Amino acid sequence: MTQSTYNFDSCPDRSGYGSLKWDKYKSQEILPMWVADMDFEIAPEIRTALQARLDHGVYGYTVPFAEPVNAVLSYLLRQHNYSAEASWLNFLPGLVPAINLCCHAFTGPKDSVMTVTPVYPPFLSAPNYAGRELIKVPLCLSSKDLWTFDFEAMQAAIKPNTKVFLLCNPHNPIGRVFTRAELTKLSDFCERNDLIVISDEIHCDLLFDPKAQHVVTATLNTAMAKRTITLMAPSKTYNLPGLACAFSIIEDSSLRQQFNKTIRGIITEVNCFGYAGCAAAYNYGEPWRQALLNYLRSNYELVDSTLRSELPEVLFRPMQSTYLAWLDVSQLNIKNPTVFFEDNGVGLSDGTPFGGPQHVRLNFGCPRSRLEVALEKIIRAVKLR
Ligand SMILES: Cc1ncc(COP(=O)(O)O)c(C=O)c1O
Repeated sequence: MTQSTYNFDSCPDRSGYGSLKWDKYKSQEILPMWVADMDFEIAPEIRTALQARLDHGVYGYTVPFAEPVNAVLSYLLRQHNYSAEASWLNFLPGLVPAINLCCHAFTGPKDSVMTVTPVYPPFLSAPNYAGRELIKVPLCLSSKDLWTFDFEAMQAAIKPNTKVFLLCNPHNPIGRVFTRAELTKLSDFCERNDLIVISDEIHCDLLFDPKAQHVVTATLNTAMAKRTITLMAPSKTYNLPGLACAFSIIEDSSLRQQFNKTIRGIITEVNCFGYAGCAAAYNYGEPWRQALLNYLRSNYELVDSTLRSELPEVLFRPMQSTYLAWLDVSQLNIKNPTVFFEDNGVGLSDGTPFGGPQHVRLNFGCPRSRLEVALEKIIRAVKLR
């Protein structure tokens, strides 16, 4: 299958299928550009594998088996130079339940959990749902005007009861891929403060900047390998979130035991279609992924150039990954930016639950024509306000 075979310019109508993204708005007038779910049809290679699984006709309980396990292990080695072992893996129905369970597994009731903001909202809710204290430290701007860790503020905020650091890399919503140098400093910080790292790397195969390089946190050094719980999934990259198949990688056997004890009786088995989609994505999805990244790069450049030329008062910093643009709209002086844009026909994610009020997040994982309409609506709304 050649790259040109893949079509990202049009996609199926999702109404009537219970789509979280599309069913939010009753009005056809509001274009949904919010939740992290792309509008594209999946890779034909994955569809063929799912069809074959469907044709088998028996959909009983499924346990991890050779095909998905080997697909994940060879993908980790090939794509991320990570030589993992089958016994380190746990298949899970999602990263969000895993983040929540990690807060239970690796902290006690009197402990606290640290993360940096803005960040994907479940990072902020999970410690609270577990009854743990949450320590939030804002990211800061580097000398190159890029968001990065504020290690001084993190050290000042840490408490003796802080046990876990929740890391999002590549980072949602700012779209940065942290460099090896930044992660090495983070490793020093976690080592110094004896923190377990929950490393959500769900966006690690969505790097559209050819200069960016994803470093799996657990591969940084042996100390980090021992204290890291890596969470990944094919779901964001291959647009399979509804198939509910994710996995954790835990090298340290005592951390693995703690995690396994906590998830007992709570986590459901991944279903047979989740495994089929996961194995096919990693085994056969690479040409489609490369074509997707080219498409996303063009969409990103369109967002970037359009906002810079038409709306310089909307601040937008360079990003290297994801299909989620984080827009600072504070200079527009709009009381509720999300409602304002919805009233003007564009459904964006509200920055407030991410810890970023006066920000909105635009999902550009959609056909270019749809993105153009959304950008036109945004420009019109801002200029006419
Ligand atoms: C950083 C991050 N983690 C996790 C998720 C969701 O993971 P899951 O659907 O596996 O629960 C998302 C979805 O947008 C995300 O951006």
